[in-house]
Amino acid sequence: MKLRSQVAGCGAYLPERILTNRELAERLDTSDEWIRQRTGIGERRVAASGELTSDLAFRAAERALSTAGMSGSDLDLLVLATATPDNTFPATAAKVQARLGMTGGAAFDVQAVCAGFIFALAVADNALRLGQARSALVIGAETFSRILDWHDRSTCVLFGDGAGALVLKAVSPTTRGGRYILSNHLHSDGRQYDILYVDGGPSSTCSSGLLRMEGREVFRQAVQHLSDVVDEALRANELTGADIDWLVPHQANSRIIDSIGRRLGLPPEKIVMTIERHANTSAASIPLALELAVSDGRIKAGDLVLMEALGGGLSWGASLVRW
Ligand code: ACO
Repeated sequence: MKLRSQVAGCGAYLPERILTNRELAERLDTSDEWIRQRTGIGERRVAASGELTSDLAFRAAERALSTAGMSGSDLDLLVLATATPDNTFPATAAKVQARLGMTGGAAFDVQAVCAGFIFALAVADNALRLGQARSALVIGAETFSRILDWHDRSTCVLFGDGAGALVLKAVSPTTRGGRYILSNHLHSDGRQYDILYVDGGPSSTCSSGLLRMEGREVFRQAVQHLSDVVDEALRANELTGADIDWLVPHQANSRIIDSIGRRLGLPPEKIVMTIERHANTSAASIPLALELAVSDGRIKAGDLVLMEALGGGLSWGASLVRW
């Protein structure tokens, strides 16, 4: 029997501490005006000391399960996208699995940095389509505040901490309304490894390292690759930009998002933007934005939602979902 993945629930969590541009401008040679104009960011959340990626992930997961009317024991797959795991190993997903009371199935991490949520969603969708799992929890969770060089104004102003999660259930594609993930499109170009990376890791140095980025080059490639991958997703489903109800992009820079919106011919009110309040939360940014737009009533059952993201690797992708 053919199977597809339907979204059954959605949740998110942000740490309490808000760090504003103005506070950053007191410590660094930057300004609220520069950060807003170049990126659209106004503030970001920062995890408390001792608050780990797994803590954020667990809270988002609990909320997603609650909206789905499910508990951890109903799950048979947990895929967690993160570039900031609690430990080098085991997977942060394993810790979250135990805290959720999920005792069966598999739990593992996926690492595609800011594109991680799309990659994790694709992995879970494939497992559900193949009948390897009947229900899955897909989480994007990050504590980027721990890998930032707080003396480097060109990177530390850009990122924030947070987590978001989706619950997926396997359904028959004949289900009324065709509400399921239509397709996922993944790409990587490892030749661009050095334009966005963390300068540490267990195999190369003794420390976990700090984020380094050639921002202008990442920006240029992001606009190109994201334009191409949204076209690819629409073509694969014989759709056009006019069919999209909501664009839910990775929130790296409002100028990148605006250019993708223009390419799709979408008015700004059809684009879910959280960058002003959340900054770039890497793998968490898309599920955080989804949760916001679902809870405030914008995204409704049956809407066509397009998600896209690009991050270190470079890796990028898009997913189309009939919500
Ligand atoms: N405040 C004030 N001035 C700054 C700051 C700051 N926080 N940061 C940089 N500047 C200065 C630079 O030093 C430079 O000064 P100079 O002209 O005297 O040399 C000037 O501003 C312009 O710098 P650019 O880097 O050219 O600025 P740009 O307009 O490209 O904006 C930015 C930088 C915001 C980083 C942009 O390039 C960007 O958003 N890039 C893409 C980021 C992205 O998409 N990342 C992918 C996901 S992240 C992930 O995967 C982990």
